Amino acid sequence: MSEFIIRGGNRLTGSIKVQGAKNSVLPILAATLLTNETCVIHNCPRLSDVDISVQILRHLGCQVAREGNTVTVEGSGVCRGDVPEQLMRKMRSSIVFLGAIIGRTGMARMSAPGGCELGNRPIDLHMAALRRLGVNVDETGGFINCCCSRPRGCEITLGFPSVGATENIMLTASLASGRTVVRNAAREPEICDLAEFINKMGGRISGAGESTVAIEGVPCLHGCEHTVIPDRIVSATIMSAAAVTNGDVELTNMRPEHVSPIITALEEMGCSVTGGDTWCRIKAPERLAPACTVRTMPYPGFPTDAQAPLMAVAAVANGTTVFIESIFDSRYKHVAELNRLGAKISTDGRTAVVCGVSRLTGAAVESTDLRGGAALVVAGLNAYGETRVGNICHIDRGYEFFEKQISLLGGDIVRV
Ligand code: EPZ
Repeated sequence: MSEFIIRGGNRLTGSIKVQGAKNSVLPILAATLLTNETCVIHNCPRLSDVDISVQILRHLGCQVAREGNTVTVEGSGVCRGDVPEQLMRKMRSSIVFLGAIIGRTGMARMSAPGGCELGNRPIDLHMAALRRLGVNVDETGGFINCCCSRPRGCEITLGFPSVGATENIMLTASLASGRTVVRNAAREPEICDLAEFINKMGGRISGAGESTVAIEGVPCLHGCEHTVIPDRIVSATIMSAAAVTNGDVELTNMRPEHVSPIITALEEMGCSVTGGDTWCRIKAPERLAPACTVRTMPYPGFPTDAQAPLMAVAAVANGTTVFIESIFDSRYKHVAELNRLGAKISTDGRTAVVCGVSRLTGAAVESTDLRGGAALVVAGLNAYGETRVGNICHIDRGYEFFEKQISLLGGDIVRV
């Protein structure tokens, strides 16, 4: 299994272009199923999760071509509605294909995505919404079987502003008969990006980014061209790496407004952050102060995906930072690995208390999940000596050429 070998202590300096957003491009790739015409998607990051999505599209009958960060999908050949179990198992977020497949073919079969390293990942909100849209949903034997001649618009109130459920509703309702109104919808930037993509296809979605989203069903959708928004969690991760190395890093092709809670926390810790609409520059102090309590919340609150990278920053602050993980019930698996690097972190349920130390010490650690793995890299960039991060397949799911990006900024990291 590949691993990263990191020698900590180098200051990160220089400028880096942030990749396109994984959590935006995945539902957008699913949305290409809603037309039999050609869609061209730019700023698509080269990630294993994108590879799996392309495999799903090809399995369903699409022609998919990739050239650098551009993906072209031609969907006239879509001829089936089943997603193979081995692909579902590889990527939990394949569930977002469900709505698009139903919208295109009127049927869908896939294995339940199951839990993941973040704990229980139910899909009850997805299933309830599909049933309200008139989809016949059968969940037996670990499989989801759906059929529906044509979804019909309705009123849906989500019990939790689920990102995936909001996306599945948008994907199913775009070709439905009538109007769908979603209340307590997710407000993440990725929701806005998906709505913009579908509207470019001829869809009629309004209110994306707010708690109430309206989708007017249309008879058909056409091809389009789109550039994916920057990845706000990758931005947060790079800023965290700069913070723990007394760094001075400029991030381009990113949206500071999408990471404002992270900027607030880093400024509390003594970093200075300046910037414009599509870039920012972070300068870190020699010694960080602790942050105020970090409570993860749905957007526009502090994003759960940035909790682990920021915890690596708090691990070397001059004081104590408290984290409260409100979104997932088991998202502290990286804590034990950070403690192997000399961090002093204790957890109790959804609360983690991080007592900062002056500097971490290199060791062999294992990535537990995508963002936990990225946090270990951030920590290794600070640590004395050598840190070996194993199981980096998790990291490759969401970070494009991560070691090359960090090396460009002066970090001592190699993939072996
Ligand atoms: C998306 O996952 C992201 N993944 C996650 O990023 C992110 O952490 C999450 O949103 C929250 O922002 C993608 O976009 C591919 P949710 P998703 O539905 O859609 C509960 C990463 O690291 N819930 O908003 O699965 C659920 O258990 C990944 O890039 C239900 O109870 O998240 C969780 O506690 C990790 N029933 C909470 O809602 C449901 O039917 C948030 O889940 C659905 C969700």
